[in-house]
Amino acid sequence: MDLYSIMVLSAITISSSLILLLLLIGNKKKKEMNSMVPAVPGLPLIGNLLQLKAKKPHQTFAKWAETYGPIFSVKLGSSTMVVINSTELAKEAMVTRFSSISTRRPSNALTLLTSQKSIIAMADYGEYHKMAKRYILSAVLGAAAQKRNRGHRDILTENIVNFLYADIAGDSQSAVNLRKHFKNELFRLALMQALGKDIESIFVEELGVTMSKEEIFQVLVVDPMMGAIEVDWRDFFPYMRWVPNRSMEMKIHSMATRKRAITKALIMEQKKRIARGEKINCYLDYLVSEESTLTEEQLIALVWESIIETSDTTLVTSEWAMYELAKNPKFQDRLYQEILEVCGSEKIREEHLQQMPYLNAVFHETLRFHSPVPIIPPRYIHEDTQLGGYNVPAGTEITINLYACNMDKKDWDEPGVWNPERFLSSKYDQMDMYKTMAFGGGKRVCAGSLQAYLISCVAVGRFIQEFQWRLKEGELENVDTVQLTTHKLHPMQAYITPRESCVRK
Ligand code: HEM
Ligand SMILES: *[C@@H]1O[C@H](CO)[C@@H](O)[C@H](O)[C@H]1NC(C)=O
Ligand SMILES: *[C@@H]1O[C@H](CO)[C@@H](O)[C@H](O)[C@H]1NC(C)=O
Repeated sequence: MDLYSIMVLSAITISSSLILLLLLIGNKKKKEMNSMVPAVPGLPLIGNLLQLKAKKPHQTFAKWAETYGPIFSVKLGSSTMVVINSTELAKEAMVTRFSSISTRRPSNALTLLTSQKSIIAMADYGEYHKMAKRYILSAVLGAAAQKRNRGHRDILTENIVNFLYADIAGDSQSAVNLRKHFKNELFRLALMQALGKDIESIFVEELGVTMSKEEIFQVLVVDPMMGAIEVDWRDFFPYMRWVPNRSMEMKIHSMATRKRAITKALIMEQKKRIARGEKINCYLDYLVSEESTLTEEQLIALVWESIIETSDTTLVTSEWAMYELAKNPKFQDRLYQEILEVCGSEKIREEHLQQMPYLNAVFHETLRFHSPVPIIPPRYIHEDTQLGGYNVPAGTEITINLYACNMDKKDWDEPGVWNPERFLSSKYDQMDMYKTMAFGGGKRVCAGSLQAYLISCVAVGRFIQEFQWRLKEGELENVDTVQLTTHKLHPMQAYITPRESCVRK
């Protein structure tokens, strides 16, 4: 589960309460929807909502597109959302019409969790967004910063490989759980990049307790995601907002408080170091030196953002890539051949990536097929605009169904099959990071795409270089995803066998 899915969730969790209300109120107004963009009609909508509850919204949206076309609108309580189902229209929305479609309107819960939209991903496009995005690119995620952070990534891959060897040292027949190691190492990297230090535990003064690393992960990464899912349905019915829900409010409030207290404690500890004159290459040190314009709340929110965003989507992508390779020995062997040819007896390094079209193809095909962000977090249209020749009024929300764009038979041959080789044909520009739009596009494009690419490709390449992978029995069918995202529900279980021409020693 990742932050983006949650942003999406918060806008589209319409489920049972909405249905109930529609039934209760017998809302006749639902037929007067945006008369311009084709609207999914009211009464059938209730049926579809039941469907939306049972299935993944990206799949339901794709189905509706069959009837209503590549752009249509649905009613979410009192607001209207336009859904886009084609790459061409997606580009129009993200690039051409950007100036009218650049803000966000998150749910109450998400607004609270992001300290009033203080994180880059939720901030409206404007001075604050531009400044903060420049900060994270200069300090952490841009090409030059990623060069400085190289050591953290090398350690990540090395550690995971060593843990995998340790796993099979005692019992070579048992299946390994890659996610466990990847998750820990990615969190360590997130802390190193954000704070300059890996933390085992911390005393949180505001809460009066010492938190272990596991608890810190829970509060900073897991809880906020789950919390945002507890979306307040009243968000969809602004005229119902006055109805108090103490239990919900308390829960989200306590989540936001704990998250803030821990992030603050982590920052305070490092500020002591900075005060001693010990500077480290990390986001916090950069932000503190630029801090003059940042409030304390903003500083806390930005540091937290970099931790939560680093800790999830890259893991999702890498785990699915390994799942597909373990499942398809043919593709795994082809990739191994490429690794042998390019790296010889050396360990695969970032410098090799440019010469490895097959590995790049595995990465892109995984993003296409298992996009970690199947629906781009809704944007808010703040001034009247046009899309696909339709008028779209201010006040509408818009979302792009990436899943549908990447499953379209018009753009992809046999889209329902995971096949990296499609990216090797001359039809596709192989090094283009953005053709699947997995990282969004335009001015709000993902800031972390380079990091995700470097970590995921080297890790996957190295895992295949060191071991032969085979799925555990039963894994083939085990493809459930977490609720509404593409996070694999159960960690992949696989058998690994060290390769004979092992490069380790
Ligand atoms: C495979 C991994 C990843 C995928 C698929 C992904 C995808 C996305 C998507 C779809 C967006 C929204 C774009 C939009 O609204 O149009 C986004 C935004 C963002 N991502 Fe990522 N992301 C990934 C990894 C990361 C990492 C590792 C970071 C590191 C901190 C990161 C930081 C951000 C930030 C800061 C934004 C907000 C950009 C803005 O609003 O201007 N992402 N990402
Ligand atoms: C209040 O929020 C809780 C979740 O914390 C939820 O279970 C309950 O249904 C909500 N009550 C109302 C009236 O919405
Ligand atoms: C919407 O997306 C689905 C899935 O990719 C595709 O099959 C369908 O043709 C698309 N519909 C339109 C009208 O673009």
